[in-house]
Amino acid sequence: MAIGQWSSTSSGISRRAATVPEQPIAKLMTAALANPELISLAAGFVDDATLPVEAVGQALEQLRLRPESMRPSLQYGSTAGDPALREHLLGMTAGSATEQMSIDRIVVTAGSNQLLHLLAETLLDPGDIVLCAAPTYFVFLGALSDVGARAISVASDGEGMLASALQETLERLQAAGLRQRVKCVYTIPYFDNPAATTMSKPRREAIWEVVDRWSQDQVLYLISDDAYRALRYEGDDVPTFLELGADPERVIHCGTFSKQFAPGLRVGWGLLPEALVEPVLRQKAVIDFGSPYFNQVLVRTIIEQRLLEPQVERLRAGYRVKLNAMVDALQRDVAHIPGVRFHQPTGGLYVWLELPEHCSTGPDSPLWREATRRGVLYVPGEFCFAAEGEKLRPNTMRLSFGVQSAENIRKGISLLAAAIDEVTTAANHG
Ligand SMILES: Cc1ncc(COP(=O)(O)O)c(C=O)c1O
Repeated sequence: MAIGQWSSTSSGISRRAATVPEQPIAKLMTAALANPELISLAAGFVDDATLPVEAVGQALEQLRLRPESMRPSLQYGSTAGDPALREHLLGMTAGSATEQMSIDRIVVTAGSNQLLHLLAETLLDPGDIVLCAAPTYFVFLGALSDVGARAISVASDGEGMLASALQETLERLQAAGLRQRVKCVYTIPYFDNPAATTMSKPRREAIWEVVDRWSQDQVLYLISDDAYRALRYEGDDVPTFLELGADPERVIHCGTFSKQFAPGLRVGWGLLPEALVEPVLRQKAVIDFGSPYFNQVLVRTIIEQRLLEPQVERLRAGYRVKLNAMVDALQRDVAHIPGVRFHQPTGGLYVWLELPEHCSTGPDSPLWREATRRGVLYVPGEFCFAAEGEKLRPNTMRLSFGVQSAENIRKGISLLAAAIDEVTTAANHG
């Protein structure tokens, strides 16, 4: 049955459930992965080979040797999460701003996706507006549409969302009488998914300045989704918005152990403004009254046994090689095609590729057909643009270097290059 065609009366499901579309990407992936030979540069998964089996084994052994620690972790926990873990998370997230805050602001969630969903539920009524970069994290766009909110995209460049464009968008919305509907600005300041950009310190300051200016009469929250922060392969860490002096009552930091440790544990967290803690916890209590407690205690043990840093170091070393393999292959095979653009990210799991303007990448495009026929898969960029705001760029794609070996990355890029060549040559002669 096609998207949106479920009938709530024949299936007995609610009207709201009936309107939730299948994630378009999930559908594409299932179809495309039916071919096991395919090299997927699409999935944003972490590398199976790097999953921390040893570290988790050691932490489990520690817990087994201390039944007094293990026993409570097999019981229900609190809705906000394990206090000792939250203490660590506060330090990791607030950095130099930790001293002015307590763990009451930290809520542990089942992955940061749950937090994003809770934020959507907590902050947004139907018709409310979230401003995001063009492009942005497509799963969050799904969460927004799920609550009937509007996502409006703001122009971005190699450092993420442009402060001037954010200002202009807010001015435009105010002129249209919609300022009250704008609830938050969503950013991914470290190694963005999908754009692979990182906001410099001056860019963060400029974005915060705009948010601050527009929160004088009515609060405007700034969401900083820091999912990839630990995955830096070059250069120094950039301070968070909070560390740069942003107001903790208006900044929401989202963190996760998925990319830096193991997504299967589903441990994420938020550092929230005081006014949001209780409403978010109430929403969460309705759903699960606390994320799996055992996983939280496991993660806490991993941190306390100093097993996290070596794992992150291993990941950095491995992903650095793969990122270089991808960028080198793109330089060799794709860069010569007129109109192709990409930059070398300094971390994360993605490269964002722009093709000549006429070269669409979507699931109905000749390029998609040609690439899947040749055996390589990517995420069409069109899924990463909000329905409103900046114009969607159909000639873009997200490439992930997380899952495949360096050799397969090179092979995949070479297949992709052949597909692009084929399609652009045909277009030039057509
Ligand atoms: C930008 C961003 N935020 C949040 C998440 C959610 O991660 P998790 O729910 O595994 O913590 C992802 C996952 O890919 C992501 O890319």
